[in-house]
Amino acid sequence: MRVIRKNSIMQKVADRLREEGKSIGFVPTLGALHQGHLSLMERARRENDILIISIFINPTQFGPGEDYKRYPRPFEKDKLLARREGVDIIFYPSVSEMYGKGYSTYVEVEKFSKSLCGLFRPGHFRGVASVVCKLFNIVKPNVAYFGQKDYQQLKIIKRMVEDLNMEVEIRECAIVREPDGLAISSRNSYLSSQERKEALSLYKALKCVKSLIKVGSSISDVVSEMEKIIQRESHAKIDYIEIVDPLTLEDVKTIRPGKKVLVALAVWIGNTRLIDNMLVRRM
Ligand code: PAF
Repeated sequence: MRVIRKNSIMQKVADRLREEGKSIGFVPTLGALHQGHLSLMERARRENDILIISIFINPTQFGPGEDYKRYPRPFEKDKLLARREGVDIIFYPSVSEMYGKGYSTYVEVEKFSKSLCGLFRPGHFRGVASVVCKLFNIVKPNVAYFGQKDYQQLKIIKRMVEDLNMEVEIRECAIVREPDGLAISSRNSYLSSQERKEALSLYKALKCVKSLIKVGSSISDVVSEMEKIIQRESHAKIDYIEIVDPLTLEDVKTIRPGKKVLVALAVWIGNTRLIDNMLVRRM
């Protein structure tokens, strides 16, 4: 396994691999690798000749006062995990390598960036789209893998790839959960043991409304049931609970029989902001 820190070297290596006809599978990450990342890597390993991951805590997707500084950086442990997953190359650039002096180009995906997390984290998706665009230009993957836990991010990246005619295929991977249902996230490591118990309320709320939606409950009943479940927890504060069309991310007013919706939520548990979602079809 090789660690590459320079854009120009990564690009040359990627060019050579492509000339040799090898397919490059790519998993971009912020590091602090967990089971969610490992499942993406496992699939990418299976489906490609070469597996490249990036580890880059991208400053432009963190807002002022967010957790950029305290975001976990266990690089040695990440290396061990990556090696175990059969990663061929870790692309691990510095901030100055990615954003050199005078840097001033950003990608804004207008359609999906304004709602849900976009309302609470202004500039976040601009930072994500920009860095993913750069990573695609540097790593030159044939296929890139993203998890459905960041459903909005996934939509934005797919839109960007289509709009900018990028030659990379995006493959979506299911949310990976702890045995009790908590969606796996690097940010779970911030939670105290009490907060960890309270964090389960996100999944409990999703599971409960799944049955309500299936039998045709109204949107307002569904949302107020979720609020009740979450507000029982003493450290929980809801940013949003939304029921949207999974294709457009627009609010759904009524859920017609046979219709699939995305139930998405963002909740603070103490100082940790967690997101989760579930696709549900009304019977
Ligand atoms: O989902 C993430 O880990 C990040 O947003 C990504 C896609 C690596 C871009 O920094």
